[in-house]
Amino acid sequence: MIRKAVLPVAGFGTRCLPASKAIPKEMITIVDRPVIQYVVQEAVEAGIRDIVLVTHGSKSAIENHFDKHFELEAGLEAKGKHELLEELRSIVPEDVNIISVRQPEPLGLGHAVLCARPVIGDDEPFAVLLPDVLVDGDGLERNDLAGMIESFDATGRTQLMVEEVPHELVYKYGIVAPEGEPPAAGEAGALAGLVEKPKVEEAPSDLAVIGRYALPGAIFPLLAETPPGAGNEIQLTDAIETLRQQSGVDAWRMLGRTYDCGHQLGYLEAILAYGRRHARYGEGFRELLTRYSGEE
Ligand code: G1P
Repeated sequence: MIRKAVLPVAGFGTRCLPASKAIPKEMITIVDRPVIQYVVQEAVEAGIRDIVLVTHGSKSAIENHFDKHFELEAGLEAKGKHELLEELRSIVPEDVNIISVRQPEPLGLGHAVLCARPVIGDDEPFAVLLPDVLVDGDGLERNDLAGMIESFDATGRTQLMVEEVPHELVYKYGIVAPEGEPPAAGEAGALAGLVEKPKVEEAPSDLAVIGRYALPGAIFPLLAETPPGAGNEIQLTDAIETLRQQSGVDAWRMLGRTYDCGHQLGYLEAILAYGRRHARYGEGFRELLTRYSGEE
């Protein structure tokens, strides 16, 4: 059973500047909460109980967000602001642990995941969630991560969440080569290969890895031996390709949709999607959208 997840949050977020100059890009607000809170909530809803943040000294706001703020809570209690208090307390449910480790040098995503090795160990499977991407499961019975973890638990096979992207954008992603017919949405299918950030004309498909992985602990020794790849960084994709050659890897095709909050238009779109259905602000926000939609 996968109960642990690694969230790499050490990157500087240059694509989000100037918003990310003094606050971590993961703390940028989507409607009423930071991006990272949605990602942690997604993990918790999928049954994750230990969340390992792989972070950097300049990004302590993330750890603070998930810590108890005793003085603030005492103040809200004294003022009788119980609803707000409950909202703050529910950010991290009581049976969920937030653990942090540091990535001492920016050597790539594979290296960031490797930094969690002492916490996870080589014998336990775990999930990886890249917090730039919001995975929206609105309207689904269970979120995509829960479905993918169930597929891992049932088969013991490594799972990579994928979705189709426009062909001209494949160079931005890890791209998979399905073995035979690609899997249908909500299903897993074996892979014949995967490649990090291929040239558009060399991509084996338009199915992109969107930043959700279910991995065995056996990935750690492979990561430790993975040389720098695309962008001269130690790539998680390269270690997973080695694992695929040894024991097979599946792509799990998602049902929901994604928002890439690692750049401005992505998080503006996320604000539109989450804002217009928000319990408290949705109605007012929809009125604003109507008012502004007539403008050039
Ligand atoms: C990372 C992964 C890539 C994946 C992408 C999803 O790339 O290396 O395989 O497709 O996340 O967002 P990055 O966006 O960090 O360059």
